[in-house]
Amino acid sequence: MIGRTISHYKVLSPLGSGGMGVVYEAEDTRLGRHVALKLLSAEACCDPQAMDRFLREARIVSSLSHPHICTLHDIGEHEGQQFMVMELLEGESLKRRIARGPVPVDDLLDLAVHIADALDAAHSHNVVHRDIKPANLFITKRGQAKVLDFGVAKLAESGRDADDLARTMAAAEVTTAGSTVGTVAYMSPEQARGQELDARSDLFSFGVVLYEMATGKHPFTGATPAVIFEGILTKTPPRPSELNASIPPEFDRIVAKALEKDRETRYQSAAEMRADLKRLKRETETSRTAVAASTATRTLGAPAAVSTRAVTGRRALFIGAPILTAAVIAGMVMWQSQRAPALTARDTVVLADFTNRTGDSMFDNTLSEALAVQLRQSPFLKPRLLRNKFKPTARNRSSPPWEALRRASGSVSANRSRRCSDTTPGSRKQPRRRSRHSKRTARA
Ligand SMILES: Nc1ncnc2c1ncn2[C@@H]1O[C@H](COP(=O)(O)OP(=O)(O)O)[C@@H](O)[C@H]1O
Ligand SMILES: [Mg+2]
Repeated sequence: MIGRTISHYKVLSPLGSGGMGVVYEAEDTRLGRHVALKLLSAEACCDPQAMDRFLREARIVSSLSHPHICTLHDIGEHEGQQFMVMELLEGESLKRRIARGPVPVDDLLDLAVHIADALDAAHSHNVVHRDIKPANLFITKRGQAKVLDFGVAKLAESGRDADDLARTMAAAEVTTAGSTVGTVAYMSPEQARGQELDARSDLFSFGVVLYEMATGKHPFTGATPAVIFEGILTKTPPRPSELNASIPPEFDRIVAKALEKDRETRYQSAAEMRADLKRLKRETETSRTAVAASTATRTLGAPAAVSTRAVTGRRALFIGAPILTAAVIAGMVMWQSQRAPALTARDTVVLADFTNRTGDSMFDNTLSEALAVQLRQSPFLKPRLLRNKFKPTARNRSSPPWEALRRASGSVSANRSRRCSDTTPGSRKQPRRRSRHSKRTARA
């Protein structure tokens, strides 16, 4: 197939395959862009029902325009070969991603919100996907989830589920050595029973996918479809957090609600599930920010007087100012270290004055002191306060801030400029510096 031209699409390389056929990367020779070309398999081309599904998928997808649903560009037939032209997605299927292990919680929640959003869009158009599984979900290089393959999707008022179930069962990939992976493993209890399906069936399958993303494992396993069905219909899997300690308990609750056997007690809509996932995402981000802030405060050691008070806007500024200043100093030190030798025991960090904008005179002169106390805890830093010595002047402002600091700090300036000149290639001071360094090393 590679190198062949189907209509005006030149087939370049295979991207993946599924129950309906093979998907290739192809070049649209008219528009000069690359696309994904799905070719209906030879057997499917002779099967009127498969043809029907193919066309149904095309109609359904073209009716759904959503950032997390793969866009359909065109369909056609070339020398008896049915094809579908889609946007080319760069990345990998969720199936391939999960094969490498569980998805980290942050990424997992981002992708979960995207998928819930796509399902909400489909369901609001009365489309039930009915084959939500990792092979039909794609993660782009930019971390966006895309729902693919509406081949067994159904418009709510049409089609008979039991017939489709039989076809899906026939297409299930059942492996031999005790592990069964395939469409049946993602079926809802009502789908397993061959009952009429609605949007809530997709939410059960989505719950199975979320479980697998979080743990790398299926919630319902077995050597045969019958054993898997037994699990789907009767068993409660271990909580995801029991298999992956980084999973928050709220995620367990969301998955448990999606995996309710009785659809009346399950999530009733993708929008409801999306809201819970979004809330959890926000809480995870907020708690991470709080932990990062408290770690930074502990590292820099905000004074006890502050830590025992409620952190009001002014107190937050009090804590934030040393952190910000430390970051600025660290940045200056790093900048310097790229052009000058690394810091040694002889180097000094200069702390200029802080402007106390809290409006509380209690903090006058205490901000730089507090930061200096904390910096002194490091054996590598020798902070020096420049209280009231450094005043911004027109000259200061026209040169980089560290030049002004050097001028204001006298001996520090001399020390640093000597060290800078030592780095000049061929400098006559180079041997002297080396001997000073060896003396220090010998003393140590
Ligand atoms: N638009 C696309 N861009 C890139 N890869 C795709 C695209 N569509 C499908 N694929 C790849 O092909 C595989 C099969 O696609 P799918 O639409 O599920 O086909 P089938 O209907 O045969 O199951 C997917 O798992 C994915 O890896
Ligand atoms: Mg598929």
